[in-house]
Amino acid sequence: MLETIQKAADFIRAFHTARPTVGIILGTGLGALASEVAIEVEIPYQTIPDFPLSTVESHSGKLLLGTLAGKPVVVMQGRFHFYEGYSMQQVTFPVRVMQSLGVETLLISNAAGGLNPTFRVSDLMIIEDHISLLLPQNPLTGPHVTAFGDRFPDMSEPYHPELIRQAESIARELGFPLQKGVYVGVTGPQLETKAEYRMLRQWGADVVGMSTVPEVIVAHQMGLRVFACSVVTDLCIPETLEKASLPKILAAAAQAEPKLTALMKELVARL
Ligand code: HPA
Repeated sequence: MLETIQKAADFIRAFHTARPTVGIILGTGLGALASEVAIEVEIPYQTIPDFPLSTVESHSGKLLLGTLAGKPVVVMQGRFHFYEGYSMQQVTFPVRVMQSLGVETLLISNAAGGLNPTFRVSDLMIIEDHISLLLPQNPLTGPHVTAFGDRFPDMSEPYHPELIRQAESIARELGFPLQKGVYVGVTGPQLETKAEYRMLRQWGADVVGMSTVPEVIVAHQMGLRVFACSVVTDLCIPETLEKASLPKILAAAAQAEPKLTALMKELVARL
């Protein structure tokens, strides 16, 4: 595993020698931040040794290297999900590669369903904590690689409190509301039933989605500072549940995108 990570990182470094200190993973319909990046190199995933390929139409699959707000960044435009058939090790492989390239801070966005009845479509929610329902796999199972970090990583604070505080103050300055809460990660790809939404809410989750949790587990194990933000793309309240559709989810993501882009860019500027 270490060798494959090294090989992918070496391949990327051959195109771009500057060390990115910030990694960014862009979620479904949330690619606009990429247009704020002064891109120096674009590397399609299919050319990187051992990189999985993005199979979701709403995700484009390439790695961008350049600067954002003057900081050297590496951006994943399109991510990998367990529901695409990848193992959790494959889903999180790019996070390990980014760490190997020198990334110290990881920013993540995603589209998620809103379980908290006070949330509205296109709200942004800072992820303060998560519940991992990514059964039956976990990205840390298998032989332990000491270089990655602890065998039993502490998860008392996977989302960096200082980054959360910064984001809250940026949103106040920019004048838009920002929710904060718990993300529950499921595997999908089907959306949840009403009974499942009711259960997830009772378990203490504010939003539900099919990504992020494995990436955060791996990033936190390796000691990266993590910030993650969800866009509420549909409301998952059992009593008033409407049929979900990908176009509606993408439209809601598009509506929230300017806020998310401004927030992420300013957060990078203040790192
Ligand atoms: N469930 C799971 N994932 C999602 C949802 C949802 O309702 N909406 C957007 N991603």
